[in-house]
Amino acid sequence: MTSTSTEDILKSAYALLDSAVLSYKGEPTGTAAALDDRVAAPNYEECFVRDFVPSALVFLCDGKPEIVRNFLKMVVSLRHQQPVMEGHERALGLMPASFRVPGEQDVDGTPTADFGELAIGRVAPVDSAMWWVILLRSYVLVTGDVALAHSEEFQESMRFTLDLYLKESFETSPAMLVPDASFMIDRRMGVYGHPLEIQALLYGMLSTAQELLLPTPENERLLSNSKKRMQTLRSYVRIYYWLDSQRLNEIHRFRSEEFGEDAANHLNIYPETIPPWMDGWLPPNSGYLVGNLGVGRMDFRLFSFGNLLAIMFGLTTDKQAEKIMNLYDARWNELVGEMPLKIVYPALDGDKWRYTTGSDPKNVPWSYHNGGSWPCLIWAFVGAAVRTGRHDLARRVMAQSMEKLCKDQWPEYYDGKNGSLIGRRSNLKQTWSASAVILGHQFLEDPDALAVFESINF
Ligand code: GLC
Repeated sequence: MTSTSTEDILKSAYALLDSAVLSYKGEPTGTAAALDDRVAAPNYEECFVRDFVPSALVFLCDGKPEIVRNFLKMVVSLRHQQPVMEGHERALGLMPASFRVPGEQDVDGTPTADFGELAIGRVAPVDSAMWWVILLRSYVLVTGDVALAHSEEFQESMRFTLDLYLKESFETSPAMLVPDASFMIDRRMGVYGHPLEIQALLYGMLSTAQELLLPTPENERLLSNSKKRMQTLRSYVRIYYWLDSQRLNEIHRFRSEEFGEDAANHLNIYPETIPPWMDGWLPPNSGYLVGNLGVGRMDFRLFSFGNLLAIMFGLTTDKQAEKIMNLYDARWNELVGEMPLKIVYPALDGDKWRYTTGSDPKNVPWSYHNGGSWPCLIWAFVGAAVRTGRHDLARRVMAQSMEKLCKDQWPEYYDGKNGSLIGRRSNLKQTWSASAVILGHQFLEDPDALAVFESINF
């Protein structure tokens, strides 16, 4: 077998990224999620807000910010398409999961957005607006075009979003409450409540808002609330989501049924819920942020993206970031396997799979969202590793995945405990698989590139 050079691999990734570009009125505006013509779901032709993020960062690093600017403007303009159900009063802060641009022949056509009302399972894309704000910051940082962020339309848009996301909605903690499937994991997977990825994005968005929202009297309340929420969220996540062997021991000996202000086990987590696989699983000097927290509920599963974003946004302490990367190092076979990166570890099986996923055949154990391996997470892994000085791990992830991904034609995900099988229902030519590799390569080769996504410390 001949090996492909890094240059050829990147060429192939760029060829996919470039062919995925979607234009509206002759202007590049986003990228299609996948270019596989055999795909089952027609919405893979659309531009997904979350999928576009790694592509956008590549375009920014490559000095091609126009497509990002057009995308940011397009998403704002589509906000008004949000359908409101009868009897509902909805704020305008939500942004679409994806949008479709009319074909070139259709000169009178207009772009259409999907706020989840067409998506499989009708999911609300809570992450989209947060990604939009975070990406806006990267755009401003790279181009210096602060005027766009300061324009009335963009300021209003951020206000709508912050208004909606900071509104109290039955929460009893600084963490944000969302329905199942409201982010990258957009199928029923027991990720309702306070999933980590949403908390990391919220933190990223709130810190970004401090920079981009103008200090006008109109914005004063939102600026002050978002700063407070950011600080309380940070302390809460650092304390209560954190799990290392010392904390596990504390939880193992938790008293329950405590009433009142001094309760140590304030969510009434029963130690009996610690899953058997945890015993001896955490090596010394390692740890991670758990997947979710709620009443009587600690979801011990490790969700990669939430942990990596938490490192990149500075939501973890430096020590915690170091311990998370140590965990990847020590548990490489389980968490990285043959193809980076396990979206969640471990998979749910048996009755747990039945009850939690609703017997979802796409999410069978070690497949897709249920312990499948997602190359699109490579950029976040490399970013977090570089930020914590673990270039060795970043290099290892790139070295073991690049060539295979290129040969396999950039699949969306891989199956199996070791991640060695191309996903049974996986698309090929999945755009964010290719852009994640280009971006990972850029983060490693050019440390300044990471600045496009640097955390802001307040
Ligand atoms: C799947 C993924 C989702 C992604 C979409 C398009 O639905 O779960 O995160 O945005 O595909 O690639």
